[in-house]
Amino acid sequence: MRTEPILVVHGGAWAMPDSVVDDHQRGVQKALEAGWSVLASGGSALKAVEEAVVVMEDDETFDAAKGSFLTRDGRVQMDALIMDGATLRAGGVGCVEHLRNPVRAARLVLSESPHVYFVAEGAERFAAEHGMKLIDNSELVIPRERERLAIAQAKAAAGEHDLTFAGSGHDTVGAIALDVNGHLAAATSTGGTLNKAPGRVGDSSLIGCGCYADDQSAAVSCTGWGEPMMKLVLGKWAADRVQTGAAPEMAAREAIGYLSSRLNGHGGMILLDSRGRYGIAHNTPRMAWGMRHREGSYLGIEIES
Ligand code: GLY
Repeated sequence: MRTEPILVVHGGAWAMPDSVVDDHQRGVQKALEAGWSVLASGGSALKAVEEAVVVMEDDETFDAAKGSFLTRDGRVQMDALIMDGATLRAGGVGCVEHLRNPVRAARLVLSESPHVYFVAEGAERFAAEHGMKLIDNSELVIPRERERLAIAQAKAAAGEHDLTFAGSGHDTVGAIALDVNGHLAAATSTGGTLNKAPGRVGDSSLIGCGCYADDQSAAVSCTGWGEPMMKLVLGKWAADRVQTGAAPEMAAREAIGYLSSRLNGHGGMILLDSRGRYGIAHNTPRMAWGMRHREGSYLGIEIES
């Protein structure tokens, strides 16, 4: 039986000023086009989420690959995960510094390795052995982020910390999809948080935290302040609710409510089930997201969830 495909993407949840809204909408729109062209031609959800995320990794607007937040020592250090809901195969990379598209390396881990997760040099060696070019970290660093890091470090030195995360800048990208064969997939990619300690890994690349996909429950991608999401295993928390009967719209709202009430966390979530029902929720002032199905597309950067 053929299913109507659908794609949902996000480009971060934070206190996005008006000045960057157009860039986020353009980036999300391009990601939708890339992912949708895969789904519309009968391609897999796995391929669609990979292609959608690559577009946002290549766009400096977002906190993924080039243009990412910098670590406290001024480097880009990235995490990504991709997961196939049909087989539960997953591939993740953490703390990579020399790859233009971490999600492509994650996809290689999924397809070409018996393992699920590689970090740092081991991940890069694996990617290089499978044909990916290694680049200099400086190719991923942009002036905007050097400036942002300098401001954050000056504030930290003055004892001012943004404990809410929501005001600190752009954020993680992700995509979830349902293909014509009724299979789900999810992918999430990030440069992590501003001024993070080298070696820190957030929610994005951890299975069940910032990314998860299972045809029997849901596909999910999260964005926001990773530590609270990791502690709550928030992606799996929401997918489990869909499996036990909640509509994705309700499950996403409940998950973000739980994030707020339990740990005062901030962020957003996109969630999709194998019937094509989706949910979008965030507790940050804004979240960039887009949805595409056969009838058309919708872009949303609303003020409130
Ligand atoms: N959600 C991105 C991070 O915390 O690393």
